[in-house]
Amino acid sequence: MPDATSPRSFPPTFFFGAATAAFQIEGAAHEDGRTDSIWDAFCRVPGAVVNADNGDVACDHYHRYRDDVSMMKDLGLEAYRFSTSWSRVQPDGGAFNPKGLDFYSRLVDELLDKGIAPWLTLYHWDLPQALQELGGWANRDTAFRFRDYALGVHDALGDRVTSWTTLNEPWCASFLSYIGGEHAPGIQDPATGLAAGHHLLLAHGLTVKDLAARDDSLQLGITLNLTVADAVDPTDAGDLDAARRIDGQFNRFFLDPIFRGSYPADVMQDVAHLGFEQHVQPGDLEIISSPIHSLGVNYYHGDAVSSRPTDAAMTTAAPSVRPKRSPFPAADDVYWHLRDLPTTGMGWEVQPEGLTRLLKRVHDEYTGPAGIALAVTENGAAYDDELVDGAVHDTERVSFLEAHLRAILDAIDDGVPVTGYFYWSLMDNFEWAWGYDKRFGIVRVDYETQERTPKDSAIAYTRVISGRSL
Ligand code: FCB
Repeated sequence: MPDATSPRSFPPTFFFGAATAAFQIEGAAHEDGRTDSIWDAFCRVPGAVVNADNGDVACDHYHRYRDDVSMMKDLGLEAYRFSTSWSRVQPDGGAFNPKGLDFYSRLVDELLDKGIAPWLTLYHWDLPQALQELGGWANRDTAFRFRDYALGVHDALGDRVTSWTTLNEPWCASFLSYIGGEHAPGIQDPATGLAAGHHLLLAHGLTVKDLAARDDSLQLGITLNLTVADAVDPTDAGDLDAARRIDGQFNRFFLDPIFRGSYPADVMQDVAHLGFEQHVQPGDLEIISSPIHSLGVNYYHGDAVSSRPTDAAMTTAAPSVRPKRSPFPAADDVYWHLRDLPTTGMGWEVQPEGLTRLLKRVHDEYTGPAGIALAVTENGAAYDDELVDGAVHDTERVSFLEAHLRAILDAIDDGVPVTGYFYWSLMDNFEWAWGYDKRFGIVRVDYETQERTPKDSAIAYTRVISGRSL
């Protein structure tokens, strides 16, 4: 029996990677034909983004991708999760842009040349602004446009990329963006957000169906941001119901249609007054439940929720973790409770055991019966890093990383097939409404000089990867 201090090994096929997203790192926002996405437009709305930051330059990865891939190689990364920018590939959502596609083609070649597996995400929130002006994700037609965009990217890269993720975190792209209004396009309307959620799922299904028909060797999937919703008082009916509603709207609203071909009945009842069902046309759920090969799980923390603001420790709304205005239809009376846990620079609780429970639950209830594997496609932490004599001693991030990798090993020991892990993020970058204020990278970026400095967490990660254990 190994004691608590003896090293634990990862399965031989387990891969270690890091993740980024186009808008957060590329810059070159107005180059080679790229036009505005909803995030370019949102950054111009006064007060929408901290310090009025924007993605014009970001990490200048568009020009520095070769060096960035060399850096990944030096760190020992085995896989790299990135996204393609719809506005670069199809400016204004119109004709395909050869220069935009060529950038991703060169990036993929560079990765393959260095022995790093590309893991491509087709949508990480940067819808062409021109399509937003036609209604964005609230417009059903956007789902079909997305499928056409996906097929165009596949035409260009399908000979070299096998891992395809349709969407990153559709909850954020719908609920947070069209109900909470915290993300682009900044709309605050529950009925619109629910329609956006359905159309995103439809876009996913249409794409999976058509890509699978083209090439049965592709590994197709979607990435969901899932939570572990715990009732503050598990003996209190109100708290249990708060947990049910958060679980329903975060997790089951997306998992059920994808894996069971139906929306959860309790959530449908919660949102019945918002006219959601009119958007679900005959055949949609069959398309949405088209078989996938892998589910990507993004996990940052769980949620302890109650229906009552009775305790001093409770907040009247979510801590900075969750938007001030409830993006949960029919959950206006949910109160978040901060537990006695350390928090990150985002105010997010550090709760690694939640990842073990989440993976187990998703495997038992959804992916296991479907016979598919799980990958952790994002997990990471922002801290107030300091650069001292050319080094960043980010000990908290090192502990965060190691604790979550151990949590994955616990899930694997419990029989959950977890194929790999992507730390969020490879490097500091544009953290959406927080701009450049929040640093999630294992590599520091100096935004004045674009200098990259691997932090202690990068060094620790390299050690784990080379030993395949921790
Ligand atoms: C996730 C996003 C990712 C990054 C992390 C911190 O929700 O997918 O782009 O912002 O949070």
